[in-house]
Amino acid sequence: MFRINVPDLPHRVVELIGHQDLTYRPAGTRDLEEYVLHFLELENTGGLERSPAENRSAFENGWTQNLEQLKRSKPEDYLQALKPGYFRGSRFFRYNDRLVVTNNHQLEYELFLIARLCIFHAWLRNVDVVCELGCGTCANLLLLSDTMPDAAFIGLDWARASCEIAGHLSKRLSRNISGHVFNMLEPDHGVDVPEGAAILSIHAFEQLGREFDAMLDFILAKRPAIVVQYEPVLEFYNTNSLLDALALRYCRKRGYLEDYYTRLCDMQEKKLIKILGAWRPYLGGVLHESSLVVWRPC
Ligand SMILES: C[S@@+](CC[C@H](N)C(=O)[O-])C[C@H]1O[C@@H](n2cnc3c(N)ncnc32)[C@H](O)[C@@H]1O
Repeated sequence: MFRINVPDLPHRVVELIGHQDLTYRPAGTRDLEEYVLHFLELENTGGLERSPAENRSAFENGWTQNLEQLKRSKPEDYLQALKPGYFRGSRFFRYNDRLVVTNNHQLEYELFLIARLCIFHAWLRNVDVVCELGCGTCANLLLLSDTMPDAAFIGLDWARASCEIAGHLSKRLSRNISGHVFNMLEPDHGVDVPEGAAILSIHAFEQLGREFDAMLDFILAKRPAIVVQYEPVLEFYNTNSLLDALALRYCRKRGYLEDYYTRLCDMQEKKLIKILGAWRPYLGGVLHESSLVVWRPC
């Protein structure tokens, strides 16, 4: 799914695959009915649509709880403390173009951890600086800094709690992690991202809907060596599939990233950027999936 040969998998991934309960079975008709009904209920409650202001305060509240948990935790429990609250658990999971059912209700989160370790290993292990856009609880920066202790990490997010978490991790673990308040809808070009850095976004550009132009200008201006994005790419869904039609509906209700990949392709045509890889791994999500898009400015 992440285009890594088995012998090249990082040690920690092999260990996790060995230890976690990654078992599942294909969903039957009854399961599928339950899944679709749950989706329809979710849609009917109207809870899927949020304004940018509601969004910002929801993230600020959530990450403040993670910060409090972090302060109470020992370093070996930091990753657990930084787990976003929205990984509530489900017996359903989208896997390999199918709906599957699992007894491990945290399968989504556990595979998300494995997916990130694969992505970091494949694309980021040789860089000196990683700047994460929409860094959230800084869990990704923590994971990266575990394997790249000499690199510098910059977390940008509009939530103040994210910056406090970055500061806490930096101080307690003596790692080069800094956080800055930053609004991707109105990016501050004064933020220092050194030329040649890697720029990372995971489930963060998704929040921009169609409002990604300012961030594309920001990224191009910073001249990164590589941009690694694990985000929903609506262009990769198949409108003739029930599961994908539901995911598309969910993403559009949520106001997630739309037409971004098409824009990147246009930019590649104009020789402004080079796309190094763009594909859908077919790994859920309960309700939708992320795809990997890796590119660099020309
Ligand atoms: C779904 S969370 C993902 C967080 C993190 N990247 C992860 O993988 O766990 C989305 C993040 O994007 C941030 N975000 C959303 N809109 C933003 C904006 N306009 N500017 C900066 N950050 C934003 C939120 O505060 C939140 O931390």
